[in-house]
Amino acid sequence: MKGKFITLEGIDGAGKSSHVEWLAGHLRDRGLTVHVTREPGGTDLGERLRELLLNQAMDLETETLLMFAARREHLAVLIEPALARGDWVVCDRFSDATYAYQGGGRGLERNKFLQLEQWVHGHLQPDLTLLFDLPLDVARERIAKAERVLDRFEQERVDFHERVRQAYLERAHAAPGRIRVIDAGKPFDNVRVELEKIAILL
Ligand code: TMP
Repeated sequence: MKGKFITLEGIDGAGKSSHVEWLAGHLRDRGLTVHVTREPGGTDLGERLRELLLNQAMDLETETLLMFAARREHLAVLIEPALARGDWVVCDRFSDATYAYQGGGRGLERNKFLQLEQWVHGHLQPDLTLLFDLPLDVARERIAKAERVLDRFEQERVDFHERVRQAYLERAHAAPGRIRVIDAGKPFDNVRVELEKIAILL
């Protein structure tokens, strides 16, 4: 038996994180063992790399390699063993985020991304990816309300986030069977209803 691997994606301020635990709870109610995790992070080493990635200025390729280094560790320590046991994994971001942020946002060559993706998890893609999509102004408004220090990505300009959004949509267009686009600009309850409809079919 193999478990399922579900990822949640979207630009900063899309609100996806507020739905992660709900989705896991819904699956647990069905008797499934579910691991909730995130990227960058999810392991001791991954969380240390996250701290650097979110706060320390660095070269684009260094940033990309560290994202994939954290991902390799995450796969080896948590994701792959869990799926092999038949557990489910719900992960807040995965490689689509590298494609969108380092590729779309920062302009990393697609070929470099593809090589790393192939190396680190050529054999594995999420079974389902929920892409929380919304207009930039709504997302920026939500971030502006956050009472905390913004990280390196959140501090980027609007045009960076617009490129991230477009790259996500392009990726969804290329993989319609795996990536479901959710209109996250709607009120919270409407988004939840849409999520419930998808979760029932899992
Ligand atoms: P989070 O705030 O949603 O947890 O994500 C942390 C930040 O890391 C977010 O701004 C997106 C960024 N990120 C990348 O740039 N590339 C990646 O591959 C991942 C997983 C996240």
